Amino acid sequence: MNALMSSDAIDHAAPVSSTATGATPRLPAVEVLSAEKVFANGTRALAPIDLTIADGEFLTLIGPSGCGKSTLLKMIANLLQPSDGRLLWWRGDFSQVGQEGRRFAFVFQEPTLMPWARVDTNVRLPLDLADMPRSGAEPLVADALARVGLSAFARHYPRQLSGGMKMRVSIARALATQPNLLLMDEPFGALDEFTRNKLDDDLVRLWWERKLTTVFVTHSIYEAVFLSTRIVVLAAHPGRIFRTMTIDEPQPRGESFRDSPRFAAYCRELSTWLAEASLPAATGGKT
Ligand SMILES: Nc1ncnc2c1ncn2[C@@H]1O[C@H](COP(=O)(O)OP(=O)(O)O)[C@@H](O)[C@H]1O
Ligand SMILES: [Mg+2]
Repeated sequence: MNALMSSDAIDHAAPVSSTATGATPRLPAVEVLSAEKVFANGTRALAPIDLTIADGEFLTLIGPSGCGKSTLLKMIANLLQPSDGRLLWWRGDFSQVGQEGRRFAFVFQEPTLMPWARVDTNVRLPLDLADMPRSGAEPLVADALARVGLSAFARHYPRQLSGGMKMRVSIARALATQPNLLLMDEPFGALDEFTRNKLDDDLVRLWWERKLTTVFVTHSIYEAVFLSTRIVVLAAHPGRIFRTMTIDEPQPRGESFRDSPRFAAYCRELSTWLAEASLPAATGGKT
């Protein structure tokens, strides 16, 4: 990973420029430059979006259904092309991402495991697809399973696991590829709140250990506040950035943050913003 990421992890919201104290500038991981999306059927999913995601940031997209969260995430993943504007990754275009050995990993709401294959085989899949020799892949698989607390389940089959454990396997599969950018689209949306909180705790720890740049989509205000260094609230029709909120709190976060009055205050404010963003006449607010 980039050496710049080892600098302080607090001011994630300050994207590119040096700070007043002359600290090392943070490289932008992703720059969305007036990127918009009109689908072939004429649906204008996103008005021009400008957004810079700093290396090491945990950025969450939240907003009403249909406001373009998944569309924006897929553009960031280069799975969808903007109909106008462009994106840069680490200051280069997409072809340079591979040349420089950088990798993206995508985690969806469904864990999409192969039911006939053991947990370790599922986690190894992207490495097998990349033709990595077993001797190189196996330590990465073991490490990824350890990180999500599933070492003891390597030889189990998906049907033997709970929903939360299957999602951990899906996260391990993403981590095994040693991504530089982790993209997650409502990964815990189908889980009960207790399990979701547990996975959120683990995700904060995983992110903190590696400062792995993460873009996360959720419907949950609590999850957004707990996890994120910055939250982008989108409004719909067309999808656009409504407001952004920086959550500048000590890391790694845990139960004490969830129980704090500050957490409750962030949640209240975000809830108000979401209600405003959901109004038909919502106009772009302050950022
Ligand atoms: N492939 C597509 N073709 C046409 N319209 C689409 C397509 N994908 C998404 N949309 C539309 O674009 C808008 C944004 O969708 P989406 O990004 O999935 O929103 P969200 O993830 O915030 O719920 C919605 O109006 C949706 O119906
Ligand atoms: Mg979506």
